[in-house]
Amino acid sequence: MNAASRIVHCQDAISWLAQNPLGEGCAIFTSMPDASEIKRFSFDEWQTWFVAAAEACVRALPERSAAVFYQTDVKRDGAWIDKAFLVQRGAYAAGSRLLWHKIVCRAPAGIATRARPGYAHLLCFSRDLNADPMDTTPDVLPELGEMTWARAMGLAAAEVAAQWLKDQAGARCIVDPFCGVGTALAVANKLGLDAIGVELAQGRAQKARELQL
Ligand SMILES: C[S@@+](CC[C@H](N)C(=O)[O-])C[C@H]1O[C@@H](n2cnc3c(N)ncnc32)[C@H](O)[C@@H]1O
Repeated sequence: MNAASRIVHCQDAISWLAQNPLGEGCAIFTSMPDASEIKRFSFDEWQTWFVAAAEACVRALPERSAAVFYQTDVKRDGAWIDKAFLVQRGAYAAGSRLLWHKIVCRAPAGIATRARPGYAHLLCFSRDLNADPMDTTPDVLPELGEMTWARAMGLAAAEVAAQWLKDQAGARCIVDPFCGVGTALAVANKLGLDAIGVELAQGRAQKARELQL
């Protein structure tokens, strides 16, 4: 059996998605950048960009595939910035529906957190797939798992998402347009799936080519 492949492009994800509509068997699993990671935008500009980026991800997919987003909210100037809401605006504009919404505990239930909430969102959208009513994966994941760096997806949560895309959406290749150091790509390869990443920062793109789990 051939080893699962991995390709990482170092470029802007939005233009890459526009130029590379994804083929059958491709699914998206990503974690889009927070406002603090994009210095050229004001906060309002980032919100507009973030919604459009979610829309671009879903539009790039085949209709019978799915996109999973792993996002952590932020608290800013006394307001709660709900990234699940922002992702849903973009995904619905692209004509998809929410298949599931899981909560990933970043802190144990009952423990107060300050700057960042005690949970992250895992959201799955598709334009033409339906969720299987017999799907028995949990809605609340008690732990996110190890993180390869401060902005990484938790490994335990990433494994749940990639396994679902393989089993329920027929994914043979996982695409992460904002791949960071390549957590989603390495998890996909571990499950025997091919992986394609896009990352703007050169150093992270290189790490994403090399990350092994
Ligand atoms: C939340 S982090 C992703 C972390 C990743 N899931 C991991 O586990 O390492 C978002 C990433 O998007 C990258 N990024 C920001 N703007 C981008 C763009 N326009 N195109 C591609 N990547 C971008 C950032 O450099 C950052 O590494």
